[in-house]
Amino acid sequence: MAVFKFKKKQETQILEKIPKHIGIIMDGNGRWAKKRLQPRVMGHKAGMDALQRVTIKASELGVKVLTVYAFSTENWSRPADEVKFIMNLPVEFFDKYVPELHKNNVRVQVIGDTSKLPQATFEAMERACTKTQHNSGLILNFALNYGGRAEITTAVKALAQEVKDGHLQPEAIDEDLIARHLMTKALPYLYRDPDLIIRTSGELRLSNFLPWQAAYSEFYFTKVLWPDFNEDELVKAIAEFNHRQRRFGGV
Ligand code: FPP
Repeated sequence: MAVFKFKKKQETQILEKIPKHIGIIMDGNGRWAKKRLQPRVMGHKAGMDALQRVTIKASELGVKVLTVYAFSTENWSRPADEVKFIMNLPVEFFDKYVPELHKNNVRVQVIGDTSKLPQATFEAMERACTKTQHNSGLILNFALNYGGRAEITTAVKALAQEVKDGHLQPEAIDEDLIARHLMTKALPYLYRDPDLIIRTSGELRLSNFLPWQAAYSEFYFTKVLWPDFNEDELVKAIAEFNHRQRRFGGV
C-alpha cells in the first residue's frame, strides 16, 4: 500500500499535463504472437487485454478521449481468417470487457464506415455504444473500418453537395466547417484533435490515422509491441509528452 502511494505521488509529479485526447496505433500484435510461436490472432486477443488495462489507466489519469486504431480501411486485405477473427472481437469485447468499462464510467464511441461491417460486429459495437451512452467519463473511441483519406473525401463530397444545393457559399468553407464534417465531430468540441499519438512496435508511420486531426499532435513511438503495452508504458508516454513544448506554429 505504501509503495502504491509513493508511486502515485511520483506519478502526479511527472504527469503535470495530462493529454486530453490520446490516439493509439496498436501495432505489433502479429509479431508478439509469432515470437511465442502462436497464431497471429492470439496477438489480437492479447491486444484486447492491453487495450482494457490502458483504457482504465487513462481514465484514472483524467484523459478525456482515447481513439484507438482497431481496423483500417486497408486491413480488409489481410487473410480472410484473420479478418473474420478481428471482426469477431467486438462481440467478445461487449461480453467480456464492456461491463468493467461501464463500471468505470467509460463511454464507447466508433468512427469509421461501420455500414461495411458484418452484421454481428456492427450490432456488438452498437450495443456497446448504447449501453454506455450516458457515461460521463473517458470516451473510448474505436476507429473501426476507418481511413483518414476516406474520411476527408466523404467530408469534401458533403460540402460540395451543400454548395451545389445552394445552402453553402464556397467562401464560407473554413477549417472549423471542415472539422465539423469529419467523423470526429461526434467528440466533445475541445477534444476532437489528439494531443498525443502513440504508435507501438517500432513503426514510424501514421498509416492514414487521423491525418487532419493530427496536424498539431505530439508523436510517441515505442518498440514495445502492443500486447506488452501496459499502465507503466502509458505513464512513460505521457511523461515524455510533458517534456514537449507545443507551440502550435507560434514561438
Ligand atoms: C495491428 O497489429 C493490430 C490490428 C490490426 C488490430 C488491433 C485490434 C485490437 C487490439 C483489438 C480491437 C478491439 C475491438 C473491440 C475491435 P498487426 O497485426 O499489424 O501486428 P504486426 O505488425 O506485428 O503483424
